[in-house]
Amino acid sequence: MRRVYMDNAATTRLIPEVLNAMLPYMTDIYGNPSSPHYFGQQAGMAVDRARGQVAKAINADAGEIIFTSGGSEADNTAIRGIAERYQKRGKHIITTAVEHHAVLHTCQLLEKQGYEVTYLPVDEYGMVTAEQVENAIRPDTVLVTVMFANNEVGTVMPIAEIGKICREKGVFFHTDAVQAVGHLPIDVKEMNIDLLSMSAHKFHGPKGVGCLYVRKGIIVPALIVGGAQEKNRRAGTENVPGIVGMGKAIELACEDLSEKSARIAKLRDRLIREIPELIPEVKLNGHPTVRLPNNVNFSIKYIEGESILLMLDLNGIAASSGSACTSGSLDPSHVLLAMGLTHEVAHGSLRMTLSDETTEEDIEYVLEVLPKVAERLRKMSPLYHE
Ligand SMILES: Cc1ncc(COP(=O)(O)O)c(C=O)c1O
Repeated sequence: MRRVYMDNAATTRLIPEVLNAMLPYMTDIYGNPSSPHYFGQQAGMAVDRARGQVAKAINADAGEIIFTSGGSEADNTAIRGIAERYQKRGKHIITTAVEHHAVLHTCQLLEKQGYEVTYLPVDEYGMVTAEQVENAIRPDTVLVTVMFANNEVGTVMPIAEIGKICREKGVFFHTDAVQAVGHLPIDVKEMNIDLLSMSAHKFHGPKGVGCLYVRKGIIVPALIVGGAQEKNRRAGTENVPGIVGMGKAIELACEDLSEKSARIAKLRDRLIREIPELIPEVKLNGHPTVRLPNNVNFSIKYIEGESILLMLDLNGIAASSGSACTSGSLDPSHVLLAMGLTHEVAHGSLRMTLSDETTEEDIEYVLEVLPKVAERLRKMSPLYHE
């Protein structure tokens, strides 16, 4: 059976070039980067090289990169760290209603510890404006955390505008760029970003490794304490193969980024254009144009997202109904509800996320299978007949 992987927002395939870069660090070069001997130094040099590759991709300096176990740890480190270290400035945090749970649950945890959090509402496309952020900033606001691009509906937030306002107002600005890195150009200096989270497995790197960019001069206390690794900012022996893989993956992802993104966006747009022509009563979720080049999200009214996923899977197509972390739960997506969708329409959502490896044939296969699946499920749906 043909297999089409359309769940690249959940994770991506580790590409062979990245695996090859990693392999020596699992076999011959197994030293601990903290050890001063040859084996350790070789590993340490590889970590430094990767730090440079990651920094270059977002126009940061190598010293501003802290390697972590992934996006969730980077988000936790940034938000909890800033809240704790700079609490004298105030205990008010601004975020949005559509963040990933790595951010939302961290904010909720801080609320229990006496912080106050403003969850900015979004418009029908899942967008917040810089003006909303500006109006929410108070004298006791210490941190603004707004995602670069939404993982479910792909809407890209006005990050540079928000960064400018935060810098003017003297408020720290963190962005969860887990879904944006490798798809959109990012310049932390130009965009006035103080802290940024990313995760390697979203851009064809290995799982279990990510990083937090922290602008020089900002102090973020370690979330994980112990050894002096990462200049005392994250304890624990470095995941050397993972870090090497992340460096290679980001370098490859950023090569010809605009050409690659334009090709993927063309495939995305074909799905966005043709699905409503083939299936009646569907709704595109997310912004029609200001969205990630690889994200397609439709609500197929009157049917359940979960049943569409099962039927697609039986036909070899891997997609998702929301974020990977929340599928399995029967609650409708908090992102879609925040955008004003009803529970029924939110339940019928289908996310298809493309990658550099998605082909025209993959798109054609989806366009052939999905309408049949939708028609079959609607025949069985009492809601549709009503
Ligand atoms: C926007 C966003 N933030 C954070 C994460 C968590 O990243 P990780 O799986 O590396 O912990 C994800 C993963 O789905 C994500 O999409």
